Amino acid sequence: MKFNTKTIHGGQQNVDPAYGSVMPPIYQTTTFSQTTPGGHKGFEYARSGNPTRAALERAFACLENGTYGLAFGSGLAAIDAVMKLLKPGDEVVSTSDLYGGTYRLFTKIFQGFGIKFHFVGMENADAIEKYINDKTKLIWVETPTNPMMNIIDIKKVASITKKHKVLLAVDNTFATPYLQQPLEMGADIVMHSATKYLGGHSDVVMGALIVNTKDLADRLYFIQNASGAICGPQDSFLVLRGLKTLHIRMQRHCENAEVVAEYLASHPKIEKVYWPGFQDHPNHKIAKAQMKDFGGMISFVTKGNNYAEAIKIVENLKIFTLAESLGGVESLAGHPASMTHASIPKAERERIGVVDSLIRLSVGIEDIEDLIEDLKQAIG
Ligand SMILES: Cc1ncc(COP(=O)(O)O)c(C=O)c1O
Repeated sequence: MKFNTKTIHGGQQNVDPAYGSVMPPIYQTTTFSQTTPGGHKGFEYARSGNPTRAALERAFACLENGTYGLAFGSGLAAIDAVMKLLKPGDEVVSTSDLYGGTYRLFTKIFQGFGIKFHFVGMENADAIEKYINDKTKLIWVETPTNPMMNIIDIKKVASITKKHKVLLAVDNTFATPYLQQPLEMGADIVMHSATKYLGGHSDVVMGALIVNTKDLADRLYFIQNASGAICGPQDSFLVLRGLKTLHIRMQRHCENAEVVAEYLASHPKIEKVYWPGFQDHPNHKIAKAQMKDFGGMISFVTKGNNYAEAIKIVENLKIFTLAESLGGVESLAGHPASMTHASIPKAERERIGVVDSLIRLSVGIEDIEDLIEDLKQAIG
């Protein structure tokens, strides 16, 4: 199957042997009856497995061209599971410009358990190698990064992780498998905040992991079951429904974002627009090579870098809703310094570019004329 067919049918054969329902039934149950101890039809207890979740997990695996999918109660729960593969004394090299909640999980939880993190700008992948030693077990990559839209060369990082026999995990939330498939480029683990584009309708919080090897899948499944951060059947159903339109939503997100990026870049009050589709974006060539298009996310800073002015712009927006999150059909705007990235210390966030006037847009799939009009009136 090609990608667009996979979004609709991937992993969904024989979902309902009972009545042939086209959508998978929502198995709203805690447990499954047994005829004799161990005599069940593949499901025992809903933390360990649920048929609706299993249908979604197969869809995740199929879309990322992976073999095994695992669904979690949030993106952070999925990252938490990956980190539990590690032991005290292990080291991780992570993208420096990454989602604030991931940074908080690494530094405020796992650092306390004796895991050491190196936060490294990975726009030049060669920079990673000097942080790798015999304690390094994992490289954590987010690309495009949140919110600076940096692009990391996944193939190049994979060649380094293969050489040193360490795991490579890629947070593919911003790109989605529509734009890039990290397992195909040599990653070992793909992670998603399925809350975003995969769900696509801002009505679910969910996470996903996709891997190719049985050993890794078994270890992650053990953690998923033992730690218990699973998602429920209703949410699994909603994300399965969302996935079916991923390809057409992403196509429109990308088209609209291109027009918005160009509009902002030509605006006299805007200092800089961060969008990997621009030819002068530092890693534009890599984005072009590893992504099908440039995605729906854009960040920009205003001239003079004034905090109050940035707040006024996001307050003035009418169609763009001022809110955390991204990747839904509706356009959202955020102010990372005071919202999504407030958990990163000011000096650290400014070092990576999250200055006071930075505004992040999740460009939705509304009519583009309305989005441009809204930005025009809000920026003034
Ligand atoms: C890139 C990225 N990774 C991970 C997460 C965390 O996911 P969740 O909010 O579903 O826990 C987010 C949330 O915004 C994100 O943007």
